[in-house]
Amino acid sequence: MSTVALRSLVKRYGNVNAVDDITLDVAEGQLVALLGPSGCGKTTTLRMIGGFVEASAGSILIGGTDVTRLPPARRNIGFGFQSYALFPHMSVAQNVAFGLEMRRLPRAEIAQRVNQALDRVRLRAMADRLPKHLSGGQQQRVSLARALVIEPSLLLLDEPLSNLDAQLRGEMKLEIRQIQKAMGITTIFVTHDQDEALSIADRIVVMRSGRIEQDGTPESVFAAPRSRFVAEFMGVTNLLPGTFEASGCFRLTNGAAIRISDQAGAPERESVLAIRPERIRIARAGATPGPDDLPAEIEAATYRGLTVEYRLRTGSGLHLTARQPTPATGGPTMLEPGACIHIGVPTDACLLIPA
Ligand SMILES: Nc1ncnc2c1ncn2[C@@H]1O[C@H](COP(=O)(O)OP(=O)(O)OP(=O)(O)O)[C@@H](O)[C@H]1O
Ligand SMILES: [Mg+2]
Repeated sequence: MSTVALRSLVKRYGNVNAVDDITLDVAEGQLVALLGPSGCGKTTTLRMIGGFVEASAGSILIGGTDVTRLPPARRNIGFGFQSYALFPHMSVAQNVAFGLEMRRLPRAEIAQRVNQALDRVRLRAMADRLPKHLSGGQQQRVSLARALVIEPSLLLLDEPLSNLDAQLRGEMKLEIRQIQKAMGITTIFVTHDQDEALSIADRIVVMRSGRIEQDGTPESVFAAPRSRFVAEFMGVTNLLPGTFEASGCFRLTNGAAIRISDQAGAPERESVLAIRPERIRIARAGATPGPDDLPAEIEAATYRGLTVEYRLRTGSGLHLTARQPTPATGGPTMLEPGACIHIGVPTDACLLIPA
C-alpha cells in the first residue's frame, strides 16, 4: 500500500491557477476526502495524482517514488472518474475485467473477481449489458467496480456516488469504506457533500479556489471550523460579525449583545460569531425565558421531516436560523410564522472565528 505526498502542486490553465500550491501528505491506508465547492480544483488535483493531467509545477510522490512525470499506467492506481469513462463497446463485465486482463491474470480468477466486484456494487444481474443500456447511477457503479477490482495500492475516486439515490449512496459509501479498510487501500475521495466526507473519511481536506483551507479529522473540521468559509460549508448558518468584549459579551455590528462566556477572553477583537441552528434554544409563549434570552418572532417555518427550520427575527432586528426536532422525532408541535418566542444561545454553542 502507498503513501501519497503532494509538494507545492500547481496546475495553471492560462492565467488561472486551478490548483494553487497544494502540499499534502496522505498516510498509508488512510481515506482522505477532498471537500469543496464546484470549481475549487478537486478533480484537477486528483487527475494530476492519477497522471491524466500534467502538473504545471511541484511534485507528486507515491510510496516515496516521484511519479510526477510517469504515465498513468505506471502508477498502479484505481481510478473512478467523475464522468464514468466506460468503454462503450464492451459489456459491464468486460469493462470491469479490463484491468485484470491487462495484468494477464488467469481466466478463472478474472471471472471470480469480476463477479465479486459486481456483487459489491449490486450489478451482477447486468453483467452482459452495454453501458448505453444502463442508467447514470448504474454506469457510475460499473466505474466504481472497475476501480476496486484491481485492488490497487492507491484508489482515487471522483464523486463516485453523485448520481445515486440516497439509499444506494448510503450502501455504496459503507461498501467503499469496508473494502478500503479491509484491504488497507490508501484512498483519496473527492466530494462536495459534507455528510459524505464526514461519514467515511479519516481526514477531511477542505479546498477553496485551488488551495487548502483546512485539513483535519472530521470531528475537528466540523466542530472547529477555522474560517467563515469552512463554517458555512459545515452547515453553520448563523454567522454574525462583531466584536468580543471583555465583559464576556459579543457585540454585534447592529449594537445587540449576546453573552457568550462568563470569563473574559480575548477582548475587543473583531470576529465572527458562529452558532449552529440546532443549538438555538426556543422558549415558547408562556414558558419562562432565561435571563439572557432575547425576544424574537418566527418569520418562516420549513418542514424537513426529521427537523423543522425556523427563520427568526430578534427584537433588535437580527436574522437567525434555528432547527428543532419535529413531532416525528419526539419534538414539540411546530410553531407558525408570527409566533412570539424567546431564544437562548448556550455559551458553549458559540464559536468565535477570526474575521
Ligand atoms: N481543461 C481545462 N481548461 C481550462 N480550465 C479548466 C480545465 N479543467 C478545469 N479547469 C478550471 O479549473 C478549475 C478547477 O476545476 P476542477 O474540475 O478541478 O473543479 P472541481 O473542484 O472538481 O469542481 P466540481 O465539483 O464542479 O467537479 C475550474 O475553475 C475549472 O473551470
Ligand atoms: Mg470535479
